[in-house]
Amino acid sequence: MVDAPEIKHGLEGVYFTESGICKVDGINGRLYYCGYSIETLAGNSNFEEVCYLLLNERLPSASELSVFRKSLASERDLPDEVVMVIEKLAKSSDEMDVLRSAVSMLAFSDKDAADDTEPSNMRKSIRLISKIASIVAATGSVRAGRGYVRPDPSMGHIENFLYMLNGSKPKDEHVKILDTMFLLHAEHSSNASTFSGIVTASTLSDMHSAVTSAIGTLKGPLHGGADEAALQMMREIGRPEHTVKYIEEALAGKKKIMGFGHRVYKTYDPRARIIKKRLEELQGSADEEVRNLTNIALAAEKLMVDRIGKSHGIWPNVDFFSGPVYTDLGIDIYLFTPIFAASRIPGWCAHIIQYLRENKLIRPLEYYNGTLDREYVPIDKR
Ligand SMILES: CC(C)(COP(=O)(O)OP(=O)(O)OC[C@H]1O[C@@H](n2cnc3c(N)ncnc32)[C@H](O)[C@@H]1OP(=O)(O)O)[C@@H](O)C(=O)NCCC(=O)NCCS
Repeated sequence: MVDAPEIKHGLEGVYFTESGICKVDGINGRLYYCGYSIETLAGNSNFEEVCYLLLNERLPSASELSVFRKSLASERDLPDEVVMVIEKLAKSSDEMDVLRSAVSMLAFSDKDAADDTEPSNMRKSIRLISKIASIVAATGSVRAGRGYVRPDPSMGHIENFLYMLNGSKPKDEHVKILDTMFLLHAEHSSNASTFSGIVTASTLSDMHSAVTSAIGTLKGPLHGGADEAALQMMREIGRPEHTVKYIEEALAGKKKIMGFGHRVYKTYDPRARIIKKRLEELQGSADEEVRNLTNIALAAEKLMVDRIGKSHGIWPNVDFFSGPVYTDLGIDIYLFTPIFAASRIPGWCAHIIQYLRENKLIRPLEYYNGTLDREYVPIDKR
């Protein structure tokens, strides 16, 4: 009889590959994309440059970035059949389901779909980065009754996203803030959605299938859906002065507070620190809803940090503060997780391409704890 192996529930603490794309230092609360700290990138770079960085593991020259931006711009328009599906489903379906189905459909019109070489996968990555943002913006625009707004190739990635979403040229300040949000969500090592994309790719399936798997994985409230759940909680709390009672009761009832806790960070998530700075600026917002949500978020954060931060290692993660920031940008809650997907796509693609260079089918073991050689009893005798 073989002893039961040690089982790592949720694969906690298990390394499955190595990579130079991302370092998450959960003890010291540091995050690096290809060696650059997240603070350096948020302060100096932008989402388009970070996409290039993640896919190529180096920063582009000015001319390389210019070519890359033009490629993104030229790939933004959506195939007619995808627009039709969005127009049919966006008002009545879950937005992540719309995104998952639309991305799956993109394969039918991608001339590189069946070519799994690395140059082809790079081209598909650029298309996916570009088109997923268009799908999310189109979903929001159709839901708001504006229909599909065609992309404007003269605009940058984030400016165009807001343009396609709202049908009007966005304010520079809004473009800057959303760019930072996209940048902060662009990559995070072997998180659940990236891992599921890699698992699919490791069977030598294809890029669109791998990204579709990743989108399905991101949907859950323990992963990408946490920012929606956190904002819902803030809305339920209603007023800043109700925050303490609400959180105390939730903790006493052993409820999880969405937007807190992390498998890797056992300290403050550095991305949350950056978003919190923006929130502090919103405390005096002229918009009552934004001001209210901001003050609830800051009160909840203070209480949680005091109550279980240091003692239990449960700190705010990237998803906690996003809700009030997106609300300030006029973005509805149902688009939060799709926007997370539109931000994380460069990270997914970078890891999939890298893993395929030395591919090995991912197939872990499950320890069988049942009985063997059971007697089969015919159905009329059971
Ligand atoms: C992210 C998450 C799934 C990681 O958790 P994990 O490593 O699997 O750890 P567990 O869920 O087993 O949590 C460990 C303990 O901390 C507690 N805990 C974890 N997150 C908590 C939270 N957000 N609020 C209150 N308690 C929490 C658990 O109840 C558990 O307590 P117990 O040991 O007394 O049962 C978890 O922290 C969580 O569900 N957070 C809320 C969802 C979220 O914000 N997800 C986005 C992540 S970026």
